[in-house]
Amino acid sequence: MNTTTVTHPTGSYPIYLAENALAHAGAKLADLGHTGRCAVVTNETVGPLHGSALVASLQSAGFEPTQIELPDGEQFKNLDTVAQLYSQLIEAKLDRNSPVIALGGGVIGDTVGFAAASYLRGVPFVQIPTSLLAMVDASVGGKTGVDVPEGKNLVGAFKQPEMVLIDPNVLNTLSDIEFRSGMAEVIKHGVLSGETLFKAIESNSKKPENQANPHHILSTELLHDAIMVKVEVVQEDPFEKGRRATLNLGHTFAHAFERLANFNMRHGDAVAVGTVCAARLAARLGRCSANTVDRITAVIRQVGFSTQIPDYAPTEMWAAMFTDKKRVGNTVRFILPRAIGDVDIFTDVQAGDVLAILAG
Ligand SMILES: NC(=O)c1ccc[n+]([C@@H]2O[C@H](COP(=O)([O-])OP(=O)(O)OC[C@H]3O[C@@H](n4cnc5c(N)ncnc54)[C@H](O)[C@@H]3O)[C@@H](O)[C@H]2O)c1
Repeated sequence: MNTTTVTHPTGSYPIYLAENALAHAGAKLADLGHTGRCAVVTNETVGPLHGSALVASLQSAGFEPTQIELPDGEQFKNLDTVAQLYSQLIEAKLDRNSPVIALGGGVIGDTVGFAAASYLRGVPFVQIPTSLLAMVDASVGGKTGVDVPEGKNLVGAFKQPEMVLIDPNVLNTLSDIEFRSGMAEVIKHGVLSGETLFKAIESNSKKPENQANPHHILSTELLHDAIMVKVEVVQEDPFEKGRRATLNLGHTFAHAFERLANFNMRHGDAVAVGTVCAARLAARLGRCSANTVDRITAVIRQVGFSTQIPDYAPTEMWAAMFTDKKRVGNTVRFILPRAIGDVDIFTDVQAGDVLAILAG
């Protein structure tokens, strides 16, 4: 099994990546010294698909797992769900040493991680991401949290997992539309990391047979390389004091589009067009070449995303950016590409340039 060790300020954890890894989850957790009761927290979609394989693997390694299913959806990533989860963990008699395992997409990972950070002042936490977005992004780096009525992800904690276990086979049950949504983050990681990963995504997404089935774009090797981009960034900047912000490439635009759509726009769709906007803005400011913009735009289209800017007034979109966490004083922070593999943070962008990009 491919193993990557992630180091963080208080220790380290392994990321296991292999087809059929789910069957080995129990043994891997036992190898880390855990025993006894544990909880598998999933949702009502993923639980019936993959819960029994994980529970069987845990039982065969000597664990006594309780499976808990939360409702499915971002609207349940909130403090009510966390409160219900605390009650279920107490009912399952989980103590301070009992691992809590998140089996699901980013919503489950974030919610369960926050509960694991605070239940009994913190219990061992395991991430088993099942969506592409959660595999390449949300499960690595220790950020957990929930949404509150005032905004997304405004309450949370850093909670590093004991281990992350990634089984690409579970992606077979993920819908094409959710898979594509995760590809927006894979492309973003390609732009961040450099020519090797970006060219691999470019050439895979060009193949006609892959366009018919987006799942084919991503080999296990490519998935590994995309995960490594996040690993390298969070190891260098665990608490988002600097370089980690570059993971928000395309997100200043994306969050404005999502907010104006009342979050009825899929995150990946927003990030895809947001990344194109970031590249166009960089080119307008003379910071990146037209060729870089064309390559980013082409790969995003090949994966099946629209690059059409949503139909809101540019001034409305600009105003929406100011309510974002990326706001810095009187301006907005943009993450812009200079080239493939060279992405930086800019706080000197003028409103007129952003409005020109938003006008299309
Ligand atoms: N903590 C972080 O660093 C971080 C980073 C990025 C995003 N996030 C968060 O992640 C969330 C988005 O994650 P997401 O895109 O995974 O959404 P999600 O968790 O809602 O999953 C998307 C859908 O796919 C389903 N699903 C997941 N795996 C499946 C599988 N294998 N088979 C069938 N269906 C499956 C889910 O049930 C859900 O309906 C957001 O809340 C976002 O804020 C967190």
